[in-house]
Amino acid sequence: MNTATATTAAPSTRTVAISATGLRKSYGDKVVLDGIDLRIPEGTVFALLGPNGAGKTTTVEILSTLIAADGGEARIAGHDVAADPDAVRGRIGVTGQFAAVDGLLTAEENLILMADLHHLSRDEGRRRCAELLERFELTEAARKNVATFSGGMRRKLDLAMTLVGRPRIIFLDEPTTGLDPRSRRVMWELIRDLVTEQGVTIFLTTQYLEEADQLADRIAVLDHGKLVAEGTAEELKRLIPGGHVRVRFADETRLAAAAGLFGIATRDDESLTLQIPSDGSVANLRAVLDTLDGSGVQAESLTVHTPDLDDVFLTLTGRQNTPTTQKESNR
Ligand SMILES: Nc1ncnc2c1ncn2[C@@H]1O[C@H](COP(=O)(O)OP(=O)(O)OP(=O)(O)O)[C@@H](O)[C@H]1O
Ligand SMILES: [Mg+2]
Repeated sequence: MNTATATTAAPSTRTVAISATGLRKSYGDKVVLDGIDLRIPEGTVFALLGPNGAGKTTTVEILSTLIAADGGEARIAGHDVAADPDAVRGRIGVTGQFAAVDGLLTAEENLILMADLHHLSRDEGRRRCAELLERFELTEAARKNVATFSGGMRRKLDLAMTLVGRPRIIFLDEPTTGLDPRSRRVMWELIRDLVTEQGVTIFLTTQYLEEADQLADRIAVLDHGKLVAEGTAEELKRLIPGGHVRVRFADETRLAAAAGLFGIATRDDESLTLQIPSDGSVANLRAVLDTLDGSGVQAESLTVHTPDLDDVFLTLTGRQNTPTTQKESNR
């Protein structure tokens, strides 16, 4: 059995970009991080989700050397954040939760400042800035004072500034908060391109489950100081119950007949529908239809509801009661 495991589960050959073991952080007697473990392969997007105050920004601050952890260990591109912060800083870019742009400068001046900080030559710095302004659709506003920018424009400039030094590992703390839907999509495209075209590693925090669903290879949910779940969006969705099929009938007689066939089901007389718990699999749908057919009850239509990340988030972070009573109602 050991041999089988060794040959089938080959270890990932990707280099680990970000790793953490047992990270802990408290403010006074408030425990913010209570032992966080992370392992993020190079060239992937990792999304950290969690309610307000869960410790997302704190995690980003520790990993990007802005603050020190109380315990545990973290490595960025193999460098220990506590022992070798300069090596870490040389490899990362950070876009904080609150825009770090200087309002008294123009967008161009902000970018040139970053280019100087990264010791780019004058020509190279100007080229890079022009390229980024264009990429972020800020060319027209390049010479305007940032104080006159909208929130979304500042956010884009903020990310552009992070990219000046071509970091291989980027931390984005709520990159699209406050952006309109179109700007959010532009930002998603930019983030995707960084990963697919340049193999950059992205660590992002977000309040938007759709954002994690769209961008992230892996998602972790932080709550009460611990990672309460980790996996792909699909894996997380499978973790929680709540999936069901809704079957609609032509009249109440058929609805009543169908309701008698399924033990665990919620009947809605008004819409003439029956809601039956289901994992959404083909086998399960077939079983539902076979049961109806077997009793000669004809259905009008059928819809499948699989849990989305919102359901996962609300269930895992305890902001909504888990539907644990469904099984009991069978008795
Ligand atoms: N410098 C500080 N001093 C004291 N408490 C702090 C400090 N920084 C953060 N905290 C506390 O640590 C907890 C986690 O804060 P953090 O900013 O990491 O949360 P977050 O998950 O980023 O929240 P949000 O979604 O609101 O951005 C909060 O209770 C916060 O009040
Ligand atoms: Mg935060």
